[in-house]
Amino acid sequence: ATNRTFTMIKPDAVANGHIGAILNDIIADGFSIVAMKYIQLTKKTAGDFYAVHKERPFYGELVNFMTSGPIVAAILEKDNAVADFRKLIGATNPAEAAEGTIRNKYAKSIDANAVHGSDSNENAEIEGNFFFSQFERF
Ligand code: CMP
Repeated sequence: ATNRTFTMIKPDAVANGHIGAILNDIIADGFSIVAMKYIQLTKKTAGDFYAVHKERPFYGELVNFMTSGPIVAAILEKDNAVADFRKLIGATNPAEAAEGTIRNKYAKSIDANAVHGSDSNENAEIEGNFFFSQFERF
C-alpha cells in the first residue's frame, strides 16, 4: 500500500553539498515529497526527536552532531515507503552500506551518515508529526 516515511538530510551531507544529489536519488527511486523544510535543530528539539536513544552511549554525540548545522527534513510517499527507503539509504554504518546506496555514496561515519530514515510505519508518523503540521503536507 502507498505509505509514508520521514527523512532528514543530516548536517554532514548538507555541508558537503549533497542536498541536490540526495533529493535526486530519492525522487528517481519513485518517492514523492509530501512535506519539506530546511532548518537547524536546537539541542532540545534534537534531544526530543532522538529521545528513544537517550540511554544509548552515542546519544550525546548524536545530539551534538545533529545540531551542528542545518538539515533538510521531509515526509516522503511511495508504496512500501519505510522498507524501500531503508533499502535506498543502506546500513546505518556507511562502512556496511551496500554499493550505490545513499550512505555508501555520501556518508563518512556512523554519526555523519548523511540521512535518517524511519524504521517503522508507526515511527514515520510520529516523526513526520514532530516536524510538520497538517497545513505543511501536500
Ligand atoms: P539515525 O537513523 O538517524 O538514528 C540514530 C542515529 O544514531 C543513527 O542514525 C546514527 O547516525 C547514530 N549512531 C551513532 N552510533 C550508533 C550506533 N552504535 N548504533 C546506531 N546508531 C548510531
